[in-house]
Amino acid sequence: MSTPTKPKLRLGVNIDHVATVRNARGSAYPDPLRAALLAEAAGADGITAHLREDRRHIRDADIEALAEGLAVPLNFECAATPEMQAIALRHRPHAVCLVPERREERTTEGGLDVAGDQNRLTMFITPLREAGCRVSMFIGHEPRQIEASARIGAAVVELHTGHYCDLHAEGRFAERDAELAALAKGARFAHSLGLEVHAGHGLTFETVGPIAALPEVRELNIGHFLIGEAIFMGLGPAIAEMRAQMDAARGFS
Ligand code: PXP
Repeated sequence: MSTPTKPKLRLGVNIDHVATVRNARGSAYPDPLRAALLAEAAGADGITAHLREDRRHIRDADIEALAEGLAVPLNFECAATPEMQAIALRHRPHAVCLVPERREERTTEGGLDVAGDQNRLTMFITPLREAGCRVSMFIGHEPRQIEASARIGAAVVELHTGHYCDLHAEGRFAERDAELAALAKGARFAHSLGLEVHAGHGLTFETVGPIAALPEVRELNIGHFLIGEAIFMGLGPAIAEMRAQMDAARGFS
């Protein structure tokens, strides 16, 4: 048995795409809360849900049900708008992760421009911090975005792994490795500034290992792949396998 050298990672399971399937037919099922409770039972350390401005997947009633029904922490993902701030303050989730949002995008395509919006974001997160929420910025690995996140008083940065995953999927391995090195450097820098480091977006069984191995990273948030894999192996086994791969990457067996 290998000796663990890093603390265990937390796994946040993003259940947005259970709601995508539900909404495709305008039915009441599959129920995101039911999926979240199953994820909890399968070893998820937290549940992430993104309430988009256009409500294309998660809806307000889902957030309410998750806030009331979960035993594990809820990570509420949203854009930095007054409407979302009011919803967050109503439910006071464990964490609020701020993401950029554009209506026409298929998913969250890039990181938040914290450096370019510092004054507004400082004021935006103050009431959330006062309400006891851990505020997280979903950003790329650029040092100026990391620095700005620390400056405005965020507790956490979540590093966007989407580009790394895309490069892997396209077989552009040298560029993927360069992106991984930049993420590793960003994680070290963020940690040195006292930020807790999370990572996520696009992670799969093929791509999770090197990200999970980064010592400064404390939490991964994974959704789309797990919900897709649930079709083939079931949600519980997919989460258990992801957990096992994350643990193995950190020397736990
Ligand atoms: N983290 C953040 C901040 C996200 O916006 C998302 C996607 O909603 C994820 C993690 C999960 O990404 P994926 O669904 O691709 O695993």
